[in-house]
Amino acid sequence: MTTYNVALNFEDGVTRVIQCEDDEMVTEAAFRQKINIPMDCRDGVCGTCKCFAEKGQFELEFYLDEAMTEEEAAQGYVLTCQMSPLSDCVVRVPATSAACKTAPEPVSGEVLGVDRLSETSFGLRVKMAKTVVFLPGQYVNVSVPGTDKHRSYSFSSKPGADEAQFLIRNIPGGVMSNYLGERAKGGDAITLTGPMGTFYLRPMERPQLWLAGGTGLAPFLSMLEHLAEQGNEQPITLYYAATRAADLVELDRIHALAKQIGNVTVITVLAAEEDPHGRKGFVTDHLSADDLNGGDVDVYLCGPPPMVDAVRGHFGTLGVQPANFYFEKFNPTEAEADAA
Ligand code: FES
Repeated sequence: MTTYNVALNFEDGVTRVIQCEDDEMVTEAAFRQKINIPMDCRDGVCGTCKCFAEKGQFELEFYLDEAMTEEEAAQGYVLTCQMSPLSDCVVRVPATSAACKTAPEPVSGEVLGVDRLSETSFGLRVKMAKTVVFLPGQYVNVSVPGTDKHRSYSFSSKPGADEAQFLIRNIPGGVMSNYLGERAKGGDAITLTGPMGTFYLRPMERPQLWLAGGTGLAPFLSMLEHLAEQGNEQPITLYYAATRAADLVELDRIHALAKQIGNVTVITVLAAEEDPHGRKGFVTDHLSADDLNGGDVDVYLCGPPPMVDAVRGHFGTLGVQPANFYFEKFNPTEAEADAA
């Protein structure tokens, strides 16, 4: 067994060096040394632990293309839950050192209420025993009361608030949907574990293009809440896509936040019918080269995997690549797991 040094470079410029055995995964070694690289499944399935290997040789165990594409692997991205070193390595971690030094911690809370926002979504409000510190866009694992299961949801509320809010897709037969639709009542005990995920709002240095598919709106609500408090200099265009007008939720809140922040354009697109402004189809039917501002734009997308793939392909069609493309895919197995 050989031990290698793995330098972890964090977004805030901090570097920490950990020792990692050649038969040990980088996330495990980091965790052992009290550094919490964002991770979730630990199985090469979710992509949460994706980092960039700047130097060194390593092996990658099993992972799904959903978690990291061949193209990303060729560029040098790595899933650190599947990475064991074959030499000293330098790894760029897309999170701050502060975020990584805190292990995901279970925080107890109680249900304040469930709002039936539409036929296809619920709003869940939770009072937490203590504040969960998270970055706007991140998610937590939420326990399903009365079961031993949990589901992952992005906060739709403002970081630092006492009350956590979530926007939850109604999956017929799903364990959380069953709970929310049939059994939930105020005062139910619930546990949030996290925060997790690398889909969070970076410092805004250029125009923003935000793309939300269905309940993928949740992290953008949190970002808007954050900016309404912190202020913002950059123009933001938010495309919000749903199937039908009845599936669009929180529009009053979005418009109020947009007005408060200023320079925010909200565009709705409906797959199955004309929206009030005549936009029918998918986001890619309406996204133009102008939206990409000659590439000087940060694109954030939260939606189902086909939407991520379609938008990525659309950049190629338009012949413009954004400066940054951050995305969060809904877990495609969640519906099946829920239905089990
Ligand atoms: S933690 Fe899910 S792929 Fe590594």
